[in-house]
Amino acid sequence: MNIRYLAGSLTMAACLGLYAQHPAVITIHGDQGKQIIPKEIYGQFAEHLGTCIYGGLWVGEDSKISNIKGYRTDVFNALKELQVPVLRWPGGCFADEYHWMDGIGPKEQRPKMVNNNWGGTIEDNSFGTHEFLNLCEMLGCEPYISGNVGSGTVEELAKWVEYMTSEGDSPMARLRRQNGRDKAWKVKYLGVGNESWGCGGSMRPEYYSDLYRRYSTYCRNYDGNQLFKIASGASDYDYNWTRVLMNQVGGRMNGLSLHYYTVAGWSGSKGSATKFDNEDYYWTLGKCREIEDVLKRHIAIMDGFDPQKNIALILDEWGTWWDEEPGTIRGHLYQQNTLRDAFVASLSFDIFHKYTERLKMANIAQIVNVLQSMILTKDDKMVLTPTYYVFKMYKVHQNATFLPLEVNCEVIDVRDHRKLPLVSATASRDKDGKVHISLSNVDLENEQEIIVRLSGISASRVQGEILTSANIADYNSFEQPDVVKLAPFKDVRINKDMLKVKLPAKSIVTLELL
Ligand code: AHR
Repeated sequence: MNIRYLAGSLTMAACLGLYAQHPAVITIHGDQGKQIIPKEIYGQFAEHLGTCIYGGLWVGEDSKISNIKGYRTDVFNALKELQVPVLRWPGGCFADEYHWMDGIGPKEQRPKMVNNNWGGTIEDNSFGTHEFLNLCEMLGCEPYISGNVGSGTVEELAKWVEYMTSEGDSPMARLRRQNGRDKAWKVKYLGVGNESWGCGGSMRPEYYSDLYRRYSTYCRNYDGNQLFKIASGASDYDYNWTRVLMNQVGGRMNGLSLHYYTVAGWSGSKGSATKFDNEDYYWTLGKCREIEDVLKRHIAIMDGFDPQKNIALILDEWGTWWDEEPGTIRGHLYQQNTLRDAFVASLSFDIFHKYTERLKMANIAQIVNVLQSMILTKDDKMVLTPTYYVFKMYKVHQNATFLPLEVNCEVIDVRDHRKLPLVSATASRDKDGKVHISLSNVDLENEQEIIVRLSGISASRVQGEILTSANIADYNSFEQPDVVKLAPFKDVRINKDMLKVKLPAKSIVTLELL
C-alpha cells in the first residue's frame, strides 16, 4: 500500500480537493488464485428482536399482507434474489433465553414469554423451529441454530438436535411427526451458546470451555446429519477468550465465533444512522476496516494452536450499530441504512475475502428491520437498503476463487489514529471462468481514476453495475424507496491486459469481464 500522508484535518483536506491526484493502480493476479470464497461469507442472521421475525420475515397465513405460508411474499422474493447461503437463528442474546419446546405444536397452545433482552416485548412463539427450518428449505440456505447454554440445559439442547435431525423412531422424532413433519431436516451449523461472556451467561472463558465440552458431547449426529459445532467466541478485541478456547476446547469445536460491530462504543450515543458529517463518515470506514487487524490477531492465535486450520473462524455477527431511529420502540434496535452502510458492507467483504483460509462464515446483523439490515418493512411496505444492493452486487463472489490483488492508492488519516485507503477492491473467478472485480471509491469529493492491471486474465469486454447517490447520507424510505439503487456502469475501458476505470466519488462498482 502506497501511503501518502495528508496533513491537516480530514475535512479541510477534503474541502481543498487534495485527494485522488494520481490514478490508483490495482494489480490483479489472475494466475495465483487458490482459495475459494465460501458462500457462507454472505450469511445472514435472524433474531427475535423488534420486527425482524414478526412483521419482517413472518406475518402468518391469516395476514392481509401477501404471504407464502405465512412468510411475507415481498421479503421472501427479495431474499431469494440474494442467494442467502446460511441463516443464523433465533439469536443473539435471545437464543440464551429461548426454550425451543415453547415454539412447536399448535400455535394457540404455545406459551408466551417476555423478550427480556429486547424491550420486554411479548413473544408468542408463533415462529418456532418448524417455521424457521421450513423457511431455510424454501430459501435454499443452510440453517444455523444458536443453542441455549446460558439459561437452558444440556438435555434441552440435546433433544432439540434430536427433534430436528433424527429420522428414527426416537422420542423427539415422534414428537416432530406429531407436529406435522415426517422427514428430519438437515441442520449443519449448531452454535453452542452466544456471547457466553455477556448476555449468554456472563461466564469466564475457562468455565465456558468446560460447558462447551459438556453440551457438545450430547449434541449427536443422527442419521447422516453431520453437525458443525460452533463455540461461542470473543467480542472484537478479547484475544484472551480465543486463546483460552483454543487451548481448552481445541478440536472439539469445528468453529469458533467472533463478533465485531462498527460501533462508536457500548455506552452513550452510537450516533445517528442518517445524520452525520463527513468526519463521522470517514471515522466509520476506519472503524470498519479495523476488523482486518482484529481478524489477523484472532487468526494468529488460532494458527498457534491449529496450524492445519481445522477450526474455522465464524464471524457470526458484524455490521453497523447506530442509535435507534427516533420514534421507534426502545430496545428494538431499528435503524435506517444509508450509502455509508453500503460502504461498510463492501469494505468488509473486500477484507473477508482475504482471510477465507480461516474465516469460513460471516453473518451480518440482522436480515430485516434491525441493525444493518438488507430490508426494512412497515405494514405492507418494504424497502431494500443500500446494504441489500451491495450483497446483490457481490453475490458473484460466492464460491468463486479469490484472486490476490494489490491496491496502490492514496491513504488518509481519520479520527482515532486510523488510516483509510481511498480505494478498496476485491476480485474473484467464478466456476465458469468469469472474473468479477468490485471497487469502492470512498472519497466523498473526487472521482478516482483507476488503472487495473490484469495479470493472467484474458478478456475482451467488460460490463458493470454501480451503487451511488447524490449524498452519502441518502437512504431508501417507504415514501421514496428508490433513492439509492443499482444502475449500469459504463465508465470503464478494456485494453488487452488493462482496465481504465473512472469511479465517481462515493461509489461502489462490480465489473464482469467477458
Ligand atoms: O445484534 C444484537 C445483539 O448484539 C445480539 O443479540 C447479541 O449477540 C449482540 O450483543
